[in-house]
Amino acid sequence: MQQTNMASTTTGYTADDLAAVVELAIRAPSMHNSQPWRFRLSGGAIEVRLDKARLPDIPARAWAGRVSCGAAVFNLRLALAVLGKPAVVLVQPHNDDPDVVAKLVPDQPRSASGAERTLYAAISRRHSNRAPFSTQSVPADLRFRLREAARSEGGWLDLIIGTSAVNALAEVVNAANRVLQRDKAYASELARWSREEIAQDGVSVRAAGYAPEPQDILPMRAFGARTRPPGRDYEPEPLVAVLGSAEDRDTDQVTAGLALERVLLTATDAGLAVSMFSQPIEVPAARERLRLALGRHGIPQMVLRVGYGHPGYPSLRRPAASVIDPPE
Ligand SMILES: Cc1cc2nc3c(=O)[nH]c(=O)nc-3n(C[C@H](O)[C@H](O)[C@H](O)COP(=O)(O)O)c2cc1C
Repeated sequence: MQQTNMASTTTGYTADDLAAVVELAIRAPSMHNSQPWRFRLSGGAIEVRLDKARLPDIPARAWAGRVSCGAAVFNLRLALAVLGKPAVVLVQPHNDDPDVVAKLVPDQPRSASGAERTLYAAISRRHSNRAPFSTQSVPADLRFRLREAARSEGGWLDLIIGTSAVNALAEVVNAANRVLQRDKAYASELARWSREEIAQDGVSVRAAGYAPEPQDILPMRAFGARTRPPGRDYEPEPLVAVLGSAEDRDTDQVTAGLALERVLLTATDAGLAVSMFSQPIEVPAARERLRLALGRHGIPQMVLRVGYGHPGYPSLRRPAASVIDPPE
């Protein structure tokens, strides 16, 4: 992301601009639907700040916060472009305040591209789908588009091909899940974000997918226990992908969030459903196993399951006004 001078023809963003685009930013995915972000105007630019109070104070949750905020920044950038007021994104612009994950500075006005409009239209249709997918396979051209989506934001997306490779990756995800399940703090964190009914944050039982069964290849995060109807097993050969970044500095985690959201919106536009598994990223030993298993340069940032599904259950958000702070 390059630095830019504010050109004389650009004007700063207004409170109305901010209110309009934050509505789209908060549709981004976030760990446990915790929505760990705050937005404000700062000298005509938009600042995105990590709201640490929304997640436990441990490294794996700082990671999750930065990825979630990065995804929100991607939506902000798109929404501003479609508004005709595009932005240049500066990631972690203040060395002395790393909680400012990004600043969006007005760029020269221009019309949004076709690709921007297409992805923008997918923002409100995207949601995590934790239900079983059909056995229909994802065609090669869509696989290519997903990989390109990650690459165009400075990330990478590796598709895991072949039964033994998928099983090996699933074993890493399951091992990480077992480690987390033995942790009492993790159990109380899940209880904090699990919702009986659809709410403004957290994950409802309906959105959570089915309670785990021994035959499942990948372990859904246990937000609630919805028993599955007979015959509704998960697909036996899921398309699994790992999204990653070149390194794992804080700035890489933010840009991984941008890459993640671009992949998710590209998938939504193509009619694909996606669910996420971050257990192996949260457990350092599992993340290292995953990195070694991929046999490539770079650091894994998320595991994705991609396929064709029935419409799932969107999760709600807190009102946009509640995450906007007064201007600096
Ligand atoms: C950093 C991060 C980690 C996540 N990890 C998981 C996960 O392990 N399991 C899961 O089911 N969903 C995971 N999600 C998806 C969130 O639970 C989801 O985005 C959130 O509940 C909002 O719902 P939505 O995606 O339907 O809008 C993760 C999302 C992010 C950004």
